[in-house]
Amino acid sequence: MNKPKVLVTRNIFPEWINYISDNSELDLWEDELPPPRDVLLKKVKGIDGILCLLTDKIDSELMDIAGPQLKVISQIAVGFDNININEATKRKIPVGNTPDVLTSTTADATWSLLMAAARRITESERFVHQGKWKTWHPLHFLGQDIYKSTFGIIGMGRIGYEVAKRAIGFDCKIIYYDVNRRKDLEEKLPLEYVDLKTLLINSDIISLHTVLNDDTYHLIGEKELNLMKDNSILVNVSRGPVVDSKALYNALLDKKIWAAALDVTDPEPIPNDDPLLKLDNCLIVPHIASASYKTRYEMSKISAENLINGVNKKSLITCVNPEVNY
Ligand code: DGY
Repeated sequence: MNKPKVLVTRNIFPEWINYISDNSELDLWEDELPPPRDVLLKKVKGIDGILCLLTDKIDSELMDIAGPQLKVISQIAVGFDNININEATKRKIPVGNTPDVLTSTTADATWSLLMAAARRITESERFVHQGKWKTWHPLHFLGQDIYKSTFGIIGMGRIGYEVAKRAIGFDCKIIYYDVNRRKDLEEKLPLEYVDLKTLLINSDIISLHTVLNDDTYHLIGEKELNLMKDNSILVNVSRGPVVDSKALYNALLDKKIWAAALDVTDPEPIPNDDPLLKLDNCLIVPHIASASYKTRYEMSKISAENLINGVNKKSLITCVNPEVNY
């Protein structure tokens, strides 16, 4: 019997590449950079399944070119804003993602970014490496305290909740805003539900954990940044376009807010000449919040299993559109 044809758009852990190639006819894109659009569109013709990344645009054009035999789209990420879910559902194609396994790792990374920004760790580390450290000085590299601060979380999902748990250990007051009030979580942790404006006005730290959709695009823009405290720190580990980058640059430059720590940017990667890169109070890392060995291994495993389950019309372990799961 012919094996199902699959396309994997980047290398994942070798064990899971082997698992896929044992169970399919595998076309693996091994380059570090994503396949260019025209190459991707050529490669999807006639495939039964695709394992893709958030850097691959999976839209109706691609699904049409792939053909009606396409049985599964397996994303190695929890977020799926690069995939047109409605189009996939219309075609009865289940879309897999990798939630849960990355929740704690991403929450840890949120705290790493926050602490580094609050205490100017990357900036002062550069200072030492550049040979500029001449003496201890009472006024050098003053930062912001995190303990006992008011910690505002936007998006109280799985990751937001894990970030909040960690804030308890720092004696923070936690306030949150979400489109859905989470009374179930309020019973477990001292979380206060507030509206967005109240959160922006009162928080010393604001951490973003929303999905990206039409409602959250530029959720943090000039108006919102103007409401924030001048000692506040904005952390974004959600998606770059949730923040208006130009407005953020102006707010950081004019010291309307104190610092930002970004795991994600708009666009990604951030262009080398982007003015945000010139600011000492803007810490930027290349979308690495889920990048621990253990978590990326688990993400590789789930996405590989979702792919092979899907091409065999078996139920995906984690499915974004369960109404069309097998
Ligand atoms: C995701 O999973 O959506 C992250 O952005 C990458 O791990």
